Amino acid sequence: MDYEDLGLSNTSGNEHLVEVVDRGISRRSFLRYGSGALSLGLFAPLVQGCGDSNSDVPRLGFSSVPVSVKDAVEVPAEYQVQVVYAWGDPINGTSPAFKQDGSNTAAEQRLQSGMHHDGGHFYSLPDWKSTSSTSGLWAVNHEYVDPGLLIGPSSLWPSAEGVAKSKAAHGVSVVQIDKQSDSKWKVVSSSYARRIDADTDMDINGPARGHPLMKTSADPQGVIVKGTINNCAAGFTPWGTYLTCEENFNGVFGTDDSAWTANALQRRYGLSKTGYVPNDVALYPWWKQDARFDLSKEPNEANRHGYVVEIDPYSPSKKPVKRTALGRFKHENCEWMLTKDGRIAVYMGCDEVNEYIYKFVSTGKVDMNDRAKNVDLLDSGILYVAKFNDDGTGSWLELSPGKNGLTQANGWDTLGDICVRTRQAADRAGATMMDRPEWVAVNRNNGDVFVTLTNNSRRGTTPASGNNSDGSTPGGTARPPTDKVNPTGPNPYGHIVKWRDAGGDSAATSFTWSIFLKAGDKMQSDTLKKGTINGDDFGSPDGLWVDDAGYMWIQTDVSTSRIMAPDLSRTNADYKNLGNNQMLLADPATGQVKRFLVGPNQCEITGAHMTPDRKTMFINIQHPGEDGGDADISATPRKYSSWPDGASGGRPRSATIAITRKDGGEIGT
Ligand code: FEO
Ligand code: CA
Ligand code: CA
Repeated sequence: MDYEDLGLSNTSGNEHLVEVVDRGISRRSFLRYGSGALSLGLFAPLVQGCGDSNSDVPRLGFSSVPVSVKDAVEVPAEYQVQVVYAWGDPINGTSPAFKQDGSNTAAEQRLQSGMHHDGGHFYSLPDWKSTSSTSGLWAVNHEYVDPGLLIGPSSLWPSAEGVAKSKAAHGVSVVQIDKQSDSKWKVVSSSYARRIDADTDMDINGPARGHPLMKTSADPQGVIVKGTINNCAAGFTPWGTYLTCEENFNGVFGTDDSAWTANALQRRYGLSKTGYVPNDVALYPWWKQDARFDLSKEPNEANRHGYVVEIDPYSPSKKPVKRTALGRFKHENCEWMLTKDGRIAVYMGCDEVNEYIYKFVSTGKVDMNDRAKNVDLLDSGILYVAKFNDDGTGSWLELSPGKNGLTQANGWDTLGDICVRTRQAADRAGATMMDRPEWVAVNRNNGDVFVTLTNNSRRGTTPASGNNSDGSTPGGTARPPTDKVNPTGPNPYGHIVKWRDAGGDSAATSFTWSIFLKAGDKMQSDTLKKGTINGDDFGSPDGLWVDDAGYMWIQTDVSTSRIMAPDLSRTNADYKNLGNNQMLLADPATGQVKRFLVGPNQCEITGAHMTPDRKTMFINIQHPGEDGGDADISATPRKYSSWPDGASGGRPRSATIAITRKDGGEIGT
């Protein structure tokens, strides 16, 4: 989903920021970080070696895929793709079967793949130290639903059954996928298989556990919550757990109480009476059927969403845990690096116009000898927010009581409060507003961190007068000027920024940064729109992943309102040459970019991971057929796409696909 046009919640006046090349000490890891598997030699190799990658096989040798507006997944001729797990597919591989007319019940949906796959990760079986490339668990997020596709007859919306199905199609799947004798991947019946949805019980851990802002009538202690929702991108830990990230949770909350008005906290998180309303119709009026989502009746329930949730895919009966120490905001994904002394640092972005980039550093050290000792490692540590200076340096501003203006005089008492009102704490600390931080990616071979800044229509215009939404920084601007780290205003194509923490140590509180590339289209006449890409053009970078060979996969999410319709009925001037959303491979050392895949009509491309042998890549095709008119829930099947089932099926479905080389070689070569 691209929330770009939904407006912004950050009206603070925080300043912004230039370009520096940091080629510090390079480090080599000989280990695979991609699956749950890590060996005990983890730490030593991180400070040795001299290469940016650990690949022995040359990359970027494939033939570049041209832009297209076909209702198909296009890959280089040397490659093939296979659909593995689509919305509605049963988690045990057999039943209940998906019904193309949308008539599966909510109860059936709970046993099937949720909708709109986003982040995902492959965990080798049989345990977290395994390195199998033929059998594993696929953990995948289901970010949101398209009611027009999900529900059969429109009279079911927003009925109790319709809302129940909408809730059941959100969340996470864990399914077992095995490579068959014909080399195809298949979901198989498995004791690990489970669905986690908007009603699954989960613990609230970390500083916000028990905080007054977390207490509700159903949970007066503020320690347990039902459900994880709007699960956008994801991450994993070195001990083999899954981290699912809650993003646009505000869209399912609302109220029919005409007297209700939002307080400063609710305004800062975009909560409103009507929830998400793209075209005059509320798409997720859950509060009409479940008082938990009614802002008037249960004002604290929304405070219990917007977190990173840890799930152990190897322990199917273990409750998920909301890790509040990592802050509450519109989480995109999270990526980890180890500090020099063996603690875990987690990098995260908050995806909304003019929001921030964060880092968490744990108090305790990762113990690769005893997995149980890592169970609550993400509950205690220091949360920071990034400030980018114009001279190519930056600092991590600590969000702790008493630090960076978070004083009692300013209304800040406890860390628990900061972990609920994180955006406001970051406003107060003076973080740098960014052009919509999407995925963060790390190169654990050398310590480089990258972030996609997908686009920003509200950058670089004349600053408006007005107050910060929580009153903490009077005189703020809703339309910040360009700065060195967000240099284009407005910014229709986005860019990718790189940084490295001081000394190559992710515990450091300072860093140096540079712009890796500015996206754009060389065919545009306006020089500012040509971008700086060395190779194939693209815009609106979103998904980002550096594989363990050290190469960068870039996935795009041009919003449906801008992307070209296949019948050319809709052409945005900025995107008229760039076709459907796509995935590209970049060499971080040279900056070369090559288009590897183009998706079906009106989809976005997201989520990337590989088997440890690097011979199968899994990615997600999200929302094929989204037509920008989601509110018309009777308009099915969609006009522009019937992927992946074709005309006989007719109802487009988000899905995980497997990509392999026809000769069985490594992906990206
Ligand atoms: Fe769910 Fe920011 O993408
Ligand atoms: Ca996006
Ligand atoms: Ca995204």
